[in-house]
Amino acid sequence: MTGDGAAKTKVVPARILRDIVGHACMAPSVHNTQPWSWHASGNTLELFADTGRQLTVADTRGRNLVISCGAALHHAQVAARALGWEPTVTRLPDGDGSTLLARIRLTPATPPPDAAEALQAIRDRCTDRRRFTSWPVPEERLRHLAATADEWGAHVMVVQDLAEKLRTELLVGRALDRQATDEPLAEEQRQWVNHSARDGVPGVVIPANAPNDTHLRTRFGSGLLTEPERELEGADGLLVMRGASDDSPAWLRTGEGLSALWLRATREGLSVVPLSQVIEVDETRERLRAEVLHGMGTPHLLVRVGWQAISRGALPRTPRRPLDDVLSW
Ligand SMILES: Cc1cc2nc3c(=O)[nH]c(=O)nc-3n(C[C@H](O)[C@H](O)[C@H](O)COP(=O)(O)O)c2cc1C
Repeated sequence: MTGDGAAKTKVVPARILRDIVGHACMAPSVHNTQPWSWHASGNTLELFADTGRQLTVADTRGRNLVISCGAALHHAQVAARALGWEPTVTRLPDGDGSTLLARIRLTPATPPPDAAEALQAIRDRCTDRRRFTSWPVPEERLRHLAATADEWGAHVMVVQDLAEKLRTELLVGRALDRQATDEPLAEEQRQWVNHSARDGVPGVVIPANAPNDTHLRTRFGSGLLTEPERELEGADGLLVMRGASDDSPAWLRTGEGLSALWLRATREGLSVVPLSQVIEVDETRERLRAEVLHGMGTPHLLVRVGWQAISRGALPRTPRRPLDDVLSW
């Protein structure tokens, strides 16, 4: 066998497979449900949707579940490359509707020069819901983030026009109000706050006493995180992640794009907060499609981008399920 052939058939060590999946599981997920499971076999990793972890009230179709899995799929590809293995991904190999979302085949490769930074960005990324500073995010940066996601097959629109930004904020507020009066949904949400030591959203990362302002209200209500030095004005960047269709293949790409833009933002010192409520409520999703996207595609996720004050301390990490719970052999 030639040197090249020998390299191609090199077996991925189990510790590398564990390391790739460990990094993949640091991905963001709706309510930190971590709705995925992984199966390792030879040089292949398979990603499955764990529908037992689907939000049955807020996410009946599984949109947020698949977007979350797409983010984990992108994390896995970044980690694999950084660890010296080139991933070749087949998405939905058994078709739309199957819980098998992706199969990743790994072949040996030279890690990219920024491998260490790429892995560090995975460890540093988090959802920081504290108020952004009033320093605006330049349009060029937002376009760059959108292009980063587009490279992964996602489609991102920068909401730049002031009237459209205002309209989007109004729709976000309307969705929050709608969901606040939906008792089964509010109950499901409450259950995922301080859910367990391995999943859910800890109260210590939810800002306390969120005032009556859509910039500052989080879906999780008031938490334990105090913010003594609020800035008066916000200049948040808004991105709408959209697809040509509203189904698993398109959601998976949106999840990969979300992860790509979020890791890029993390490396650039920008903070990212996904806002899915405006998509979860039928009426506001439809209005966002018609009034902001002007019918160009269907919205999958709204993303807020801004700067966190440098003086602020790092947030505690949200928990993750143990690797042996999510990875089978
Ligand atoms: C598809 C998706 C939807 C999300 N929707 C919201 C949201 O509406 N509001 C919010 O504050 N966070 C939202 N998040 C962020 C998650 O709550 C967060 O990723 C999770 O709690 C894990 O925390 P971490 O990102 O700090 O690791 C969403 C994340 C994903 C992937």
